[in-house]
Amino acid sequence: MSSEQKELTQTPLLKIWVPWMSSSLSQRRGSSRPQFTNCPTMIVMVGLPARGKTYISKKLTRYLNWIGVPTQVFNLGQYRREVVQTYKNYEFFRPDNEEAMKIRRCLMLPIPQGREEGSSSVLQRRRATRQVFFIESICDDPEIIEANIMQVKLSSPDYENYDKEEALVDFLNRIDCYKMSYVSLDEEKDRHLSFIKIFNVGSRYLVNRVQDHIQSRIVYYLMNIHVTPRSIYLSRHGESELNLLGRIGGDSGLSSQGQKYARALSEFIRGQSIKDLKVWTSHMRRTIQTAEALGVPYEQWKALNEIDAGVCEEMTYEEIQATHPEEFALRDQDKYRYRYPKGESYEDLVHRLEPVIMELERQENVLVICHQAVMRCLLAYFLDKSADDLPYLKCPLHTVLKLTPLAYGCKVESFYLNIQAVNTHRDKPTNVNVARKPEEALRTVPEHL
Ligand code: G3H
Repeated sequence: MSSEQKELTQTPLLKIWVPWMSSSLSQRRGSSRPQFTNCPTMIVMVGLPARGKTYISKKLTRYLNWIGVPTQVFNLGQYRREVVQTYKNYEFFRPDNEEAMKIRRCLMLPIPQGREEGSSSVLQRRRATRQVFFIESICDDPEIIEANIMQVKLSSPDYENYDKEEALVDFLNRIDCYKMSYVSLDEEKDRHLSFIKIFNVGSRYLVNRVQDHIQSRIVYYLMNIHVTPRSIYLSRHGESELNLLGRIGGDSGLSSQGQKYARALSEFIRGQSIKDLKVWTSHMRRTIQTAEALGVPYEQWKALNEIDAGVCEEMTYEEIQATHPEEFALRDQDKYRYRYPKGESYEDLVHRLEPVIMELERQENVLVICHQAVMRCLLAYFLDKSADDLPYLKCPLHTVLKLTPLAYGCKVESFYLNIQAVNTHRDKPTNVNVARKPEEALRTVPEHL
């Protein structure tokens, strides 16, 4: 079978999404990282229903957005629901249901970026993009498939008026319809294509013709993620001596309240009875002192160190305004991309934290004892927050966030451990103009000694 014929038979099985970075955005960032082209990469999900395509696409999209590759998902199931508003049963998906097949072929038309007037085949659209990468999820373990159906498929709008049993039977019939035309990527015949085949949720992989940096990042990421249930606990260090004075950065030890928090954290963690908990800190005294109180082994990561405020290290916000008013305003204008002179930006920090995220993906239960800016970056990854929101996420002292990954997102529980601490969160002021008055610049600075 030629790849063109195969494309048509596979059409209804694909979900497609398109990551790209616009040239204007990559130029404005002026970062030292590899720049992605302004030609979109199209990533095509392949696989029978209930093989985790939606899960993989959502998770990968979140990762790519976090590392700075704007990525969007286009889900053909959603398009189908918009066009055919009432779902009757699996018969819609029979390959000999010609009327439905016509509709389903048309669903491919709204895919952005590659859309060309008069074009009706994916192949033509594919030529308009520089790179296409296929991700095929293959699963023949009935337990995994049934668990996936129960977890996510039965809550689909398709089954609003079904009871659970009926819905399960209908969905299994739907899978059988897809099986009639499903053709898996072929190692030999498709050797010219770029793809990864994932077998039984990552028990084995087959990778073919990885063509560029972004594809290799995608492959590396997909080979590191897992679906074992677990929780990630994020906490800042206990209040530090410099926190009390309203000074940023530095490497001070814990205040007496900070020491109390370290003990409270230890009690809290014991109370959670967490299996095989790993504890990570930065290389800074305040996180190490916090971890010491737990009385368990911990691992120190330099990558978890607080954002480097360069020439502003150990200054109060008032001092930064007095000595570097223009820098202070520029930071307020674009806090994510602003880089302190001789220091770092939040964008730099995300880059520095990527290996931490990758290792968090590989691990199970982990407690990360870190810093305000670092915690914001990690939280933004798990909660899919934008670069604009990231530097303003609220991560107060003496509060543990418990993150539990779910099928399509993450549950967040917040535990304030009832040990008073200073507030270190400064909101974005209304006036971010370099010509603003000092009182306008300092309006949102939290109180301190
Ligand atoms: O500089 C150290 C702070 O923890 C980060 O706070 O980015 O909101 O100024 P900020």
